[in-house]
Amino acid sequence: MRTPFIAGNWKMNLDGAECAAFCAGLRDVAAEAEGVRLGVFPPFVYLGAVVEALAGTDVVVGAQTARPEASGAFTGEVAMRQVKDVGATHVILGHSERRHVFGETDADVRARLDVALELGLDVILCVGETLEERHTGRTEQVVTRQFEQALSNIDDAAVAERITVAYEPVWAIGTGETATPEQAQDVHAQLRALADRHFGGDVSSRLVIQYGGSVKPDNVATLLACPDVDGALVGGASLKLESFETLARLGVGGAA
Ligand code: 13P
Repeated sequence: MRTPFIAGNWKMNLDGAECAAFCAGLRDVAAEAEGVRLGVFPPFVYLGAVVEALAGTDVVVGAQTARPEASGAFTGEVAMRQVKDVGATHVILGHSERRHVFGETDADVRARLDVALELGLDVILCVGETLEERHTGRTEQVVTRQFEQALSNIDDAAVAERITVAYEPVWAIGTGETATPEQAQDVHAQLRALADRHFGGDVSSRLVIQYGGSVKPDNVATLLACPDVDGALVGGASLKLESFETLARLGVGGAA
């Protein structure tokens, strides 16, 4: 049984007052939300404050990225250890904006994932193809490579319990062009088959696979109705409490 997981990736949005107001409202939403897991991923400067503002709730709070080194001369960067230190429990790794805007490679993602697991941070691992890769028939090849480079030889229990995979087609992020439920299901099924091949049926049946890319209140239900879509990683539509609340409500019952 997989619990649907609706997570808001706030990217470089919201200020301190907006984060505080969102969290105050989210406490009420979370108290009512049964059968769905909720999470928010604020900008680094608000991470500690959001952890505190949501203390005592079941809402997951995490970072949008982090570096694997424990400390050092990395001006402007934040270490995984520091994310853990402020009380966050999760980190997003391999987001397409980190891969394509900041040049993070599969090897970088793997190095970060190893450290996250070692430190006790759970991970949302993002995979997804560009439009050009889709148009040239390479979607399966790309997501397979990203999945395998990040997860091969990772402990079975960690994959089942501490890793969420988010399929985020790059062409659907922030564009308003959502993957159709068929397109999403197709790739999600490939990812679950991959998990089955590497880790066996027990792990693959427990692995939560989110879809991300222009998820909105009006399309989330059809996406979540797909058998292998277990939640959503949401950018734009996660920034307003009202919309996030609707996604949370529609997320209930969205996983197999
Ligand atoms: P949008 O929901 O704004 O398309 O962003 C998706 C995303 O990148 C979530 O990580």
